[in-house]
Amino acid sequence: MPKLLFDPKKHPDWILPQTAEWHANLALESGGYKYPWKSVFDEPRAEVIFTEKISAFLHQNARVLDVGCGHGEFTKTFEHRAKEIMGIDVNEGYIASANEGASESIKFLVVDANKPLPFFDDSFDVIYTKKGPWLFHKGMEEGHRIIKPGGTTLGLYHCGTDGGLRSLFPGLYSPHPDSYLEDITAKFESQMSESNLERIELRIFEEVEYLLAPEDVLIKKCFGQKESLKKIVWQECLKDVEDIFYQHTTPRGLRVVNYHALMVGRAR
Ligand SMILES: C[S@@+](CC[C@H](N)C(=O)[O-])C[C@H]1O[C@@H](n2cnc3c(N)ncnc32)[C@H](O)[C@@H]1O
Repeated sequence: MPKLLFDPKKHPDWILPQTAEWHANLALESGGYKYPWKSVFDEPRAEVIFTEKISAFLHQNARVLDVGCGHGEFTKTFEHRAKEIMGIDVNEGYIASANEGASESIKFLVVDANKPLPFFDDSFDVIYTKKGPWLFHKGMEEGHRIIKPGGTTLGLYHCGTDGGLRSLFPGLYSPHPDSYLEDITAKFESQMSESNLERIELRIFEEVEYLLAPEDVLIKKCFGQKESLKKIVWQECLKDVEDIFYQHTTPRGLRVVNYHALMVGRAR
């Protein structure tokens, strides 16, 4: 039986990832939603696939919305590729970072996507989100209201990491159920079919990443957590994590697999 490692999720200082409190801490500590661990990837990277998908729908007259844009780094990659690009996020710290050095053609606004959106009907040709709020859930009006008929919406969601990571570091990471891939496929299938979108594509795919050092296993686990908790995790786990890491690493680093969901739909 592999040794059960310290579980930081059970510590009272653990902040539930992706909550407002967690994003607020991340914005305070790093100014943006940036992965702090060091790694390399096999091609193609999920982000590159998503960039190419979005690019296929851009043109010089397009109006584009990035929902949950974080610190705007990804939004800015589309600069000069459309008439107008807008990024919205509920987190003020991220939007403050996004506005630093932003050009005139890209606007960033603090907006809660769960509330009525400050845009006219039929405003956007392309609405996308990279791991942010999906505006086309069943019963949601706002996404359909602000996208033009025939406009395109795209979503990329990170659906967790495994490829052995979870069994190598039990306790620190929890196992996925055996039905994990079927479950996420079913979740996105129903999300897509319940929306009022014409389906263009739905794909669950794997991306291979190599964590470069034992610390990166801990940095990944503690992404967005407070420094005080990180200190405890390092004290409790680093030695064991180093042993396991060096037993299993490849010449490129410790191989892990990220699961992603890609959705592309057309507004009717
Ligand atoms: C996982 S992060 C992704 C950030 C960025 N899109 C990226 O890929 O780097 C999710 C983002 O959605 C934002 N978000 C969560 N709920 C939101 C809401 N109700 N309205 C607007 N943004 C929201 C978060 O603040 C965060 O920036």
